[in-house]
Amino acid sequence: MTDPHPNGEDLPRVREMIIDDLPEVFHIGEQLFTAEYSQSLYRTWDEYEITTLFNSDNELCIVAEHEDRILGFALGTTVKKHNSPWKYGYLVWLGVRRDLQKMQVGERLFKELKRRFKEQGVRMIIIDTAASNTPAIRFFQKHGFGDIQEHVYMTLNLSRRHKKKPVKKP
Ligand SMILES: CC(C)(COP(=O)(O)OP(=O)(O)OC[C@H]1O[C@@H](n2cnc3c(N)ncnc32)[C@H](O)[C@@H]1OP(=O)(O)O)[C@@H](O)C(=O)NCCC(=O)NCCS
Repeated sequence: MTDPHPNGEDLPRVREMIIDDLPEVFHIGEQLFTAEYSQSLYRTWDEYEITTLFNSDNELCIVAEHEDRILGFALGTTVKKHNSPWKYGYLVWLGVRRDLQKMQVGERLFKELKRRFKEQGVRMIIIDTAASNTPAIRFFQKHGFGDIQEHVYMTLNLSRRHKKKPVKKP
């Protein structure tokens, strides 16, 4: 595979995702959004995830392509919060093939998605990722994101039996 944009030429094309792209996008995502990646996130990468976004927000599902090969994708949706006049753009999944990262494919996808969000009246874009995902955090900071808020995730395993602690009587 040649460099998608040697000397700034021959740039990858960013376009709306079509149904034929679903398998390739799914497989690229499988390489990136592994169980380890998703362990602290409530969303997991599966067929349902892509098809749902593809059906609900087709214009916000885009791919970067070069020589008939998909290099990466961005899948977004919009959110209206109760009691807020603002419309939010939620960038749910942004992924670039591992061997093609750091070649501005992510940037091209993000810029196009941002343009589409604006077109839909979005005033603020939201992303979420694991606190340990330094490449993504750097990427989003480079594109102007700030105000990092940390969340705490907790789990309760319902398949284990929990013994009730005896209540001590005074
Ligand atoms: C985040 C991601 C989409 C960025 O795509 P990309 O095509 O590599 O990004 P670009 O080449 O456009 O931008 C490069 C910038 O991203 C950041 N970055 C990307 N990879 C990085 C790495 N390994 N370490 C540190 N910063 C990194 C840096 O800010 C870098 O800018 P710089 O080269 O000036 O330092 C890509 O790393 C990826 O697919 N990661 C796995 C999936 C993921 O975490 N997605 C985000 C949450 S949904």
